[in-house]
Amino acid sequence: MALSVKPLDAPLGAEIVGLDVTNITEEASRTLHQALLDHHLVVIRDQPTSDADLVELGKAFGPIVKARMVSPLTGRDDIMVISNIREDGKPVGQLPDGEMAFHIDQIYKPNPCKAAALHAVEIPQAGGDTMFSNNVRAFEQLPDAMKQKLQGLMATHSFQYGETSRDARVAAQERPHYTHPLVRRIPENGKRALAVCRLMTDRIEGLPDDESKAIIEELCDRIEDRGNIYSHEWRVGDILIWDNRCTSHARTDFPTTERRLMKRVTIGDTQPPLA
Ligand SMILES: [Fe+2]
Repeated sequence: MALSVKPLDAPLGAEIVGLDVTNITEEASRTLHQALLDHHLVVIRDQPTSDADLVELGKAFGPIVKARMVSPLTGRDDIMVISNIREDGKPVGQLPDGEMAFHIDQIYKPNPCKAAALHAVEIPQAGGDTMFSNNVRAFEQLPDAMKQKLQGLMATHSFQYGETSRDARVAAQERPHYTHPLVRRIPENGKRALAVCRLMTDRIEGLPDDESKAIIEELCDRIEDRGNIYSHEWRVGDILIWDNRCTSHARTDFPTTERRLMKRVTIGDTQPPLA
């Protein structure tokens, strides 16, 4: 079956139809790369994928970043298990429960990951959707004066996966943190994207605190505008791959009484964000 790329009826994303992830040919790899550059998010349905296959799929995009924790549900350090399943009362995966605010993965690190692939193994009957924003489109929608103002500005982000309010956080300097350009350029096509997120962006350097907060709020509101969001209702066997350089994502709440098991491979970036 020939591969086809079908853009979603959404501000970002395309479904790849006819792909067998257990057999990534050169043509398939080229198609996937181009679709990810063009649409920022790739959806592949009905993939009963093994852990080894998921890792091979990730390798088509670059070097795999090891997980912070090896889960007994995989036993591999190149797979991140995201799950609320518990053994002896303790989660066997990371990020177990509830909703998560919009964030860019690893933005608190010097070299955040380039992309990630997430595979749905078990899902709740409702909720636990993943919402993706198009941060290229969000940048393009800004007034010219704001685009000009943002050029050259740097923002500091800190590790944060709990509190959703910046005010509720303990001192950012006690957490892993890093400063990146507020607008980053995608080297392959020169597109510019906002690199700011509700969950982890603490401040814009060189601006008074009030102005920094106001601009972060304005940019996050723009990013999270419904017109810039695709919300994915998972089906078992779905694999989603997102370009972490020009999207952010969030999770909706789901019942604690239902199991949710997702497996992720994280693809490293070979170069740091460019202004
Ligand atoms: Fe994430």
